Amino acid sequence: MSGFSHIPVLRDEAIALLKPRDAGVYLDGTFGGGGYARAILEAAQCTLWAIDRDPDAILRGAALAAAYPGRLHLVEGRISEILQLLNAAGVEKLDGAVFDLGVSSYQIDDPARGFSFRADGPLDMRMGKTGISAAMLVNTVSESELADILYEFGEEKASRRIAKSIVDRRREKKFATTADLAGVIRSVVRPDKSGIDPATRSFQALRIAVNEELTDIEAALAQTADFLSPGGRLVVVSFHSLEDRIVKRFCSAAAGRGVGVSRHDPASMQDAKAPKFRLLTGSPRTASAEEIRRNPRARSAKLRAMERLAA
Ligand SMILES: C[S@@+](CC[C@H](N)C(=O)[O-])C[C@H]1O[C@@H](n2cnc3c(N)ncnc32)[C@H](O)[C@@H]1O
Repeated sequence: MSGFSHIPVLRDEAIALLKPRDAGVYLDGTFGGGGYARAILEAAQCTLWAIDRDPDAILRGAALAAAYPGRLHLVEGRISEILQLLNAAGVEKLDGAVFDLGVSSYQIDDPARGFSFRADGPLDMRMGKTGISAAMLVNTVSESELADILYEFGEEKASRRIAKSIVDRRREKKFATTADLAGVIRSVVRPDKSGIDPATRSFQALRIAVNEELTDIEAALAQTADFLSPGGRLVVVSFHSLEDRIVKRFCSAAAGRGVGVSRHDPASMQDAKAPKFRLLTGSPRTASAEEIRRNPRARSAKLRAMERLAA
């Protein structure tokens, strides 16, 4: 279908923590190129439900499903709809779930998908190929809304200046391509010593907004927690601080630690909920120097895992 490929990040660590067992039922919420899925299917004689919102990923996965007859079930949809998708499939309980968040190399490396500021392509960025594209967003939202998106989802300090330049420029000519948008951002933000392209943060912000990524993660974690049987494990790999913050907060709350709860402050303890999970990773696991050398995408990856307690 395409000449692209995806090297899974922290795959062996994720599968070791998931600990698939024979006859178990598992969920891979972010199927992508199927690297995690294949490893789960190899690790045990289990059944795997795999979700991806990208129809291309589901199409590509057909070959893997054929290689594991009756064991891999591919579902096109969003992780914020896990409850609905699993109910419709008749799945009542899970023995474990993994999420390897963000975009795959199939998406980011393909200029036609419009995620990349390195290669020119249509300004799209939709993982699921439906809904509002990045072009529609930058050509229509108000200047202040655009600035908020860049600040909130890209942690871009120059958000107001960039938003103003984008809105000034779109009055003359609407944005249609990634190179066009990246050029305008680079004309406003000079490169700093880090060597990171000045368009990086804004592109991340737009991608998150277009795909509503953060609200999807929150919904997915909450819904999955309710599907897990006692002993079932939840493993999440995130790629930037906004994702990791959501995962970390979810882990703390699910483990009964509640944000801001301190055992030195009895009043704060009263609000802490009974733990539903025990944490398997105190600090997040990160990729080894060797993995980062082989796959620079692994540089920012953080893995957190927890185990469902008996109700
Ligand atoms: C990093 S890749 C996963 C790679 C996979 N673990 C592998 O080994 O090939 C992330 C995948 O998750 C999908 N995805 C991201 N957010 C999603 C969401 N909210 N709902 C459904 N799929 C999502 C993307 O389309 C992408 O294919």
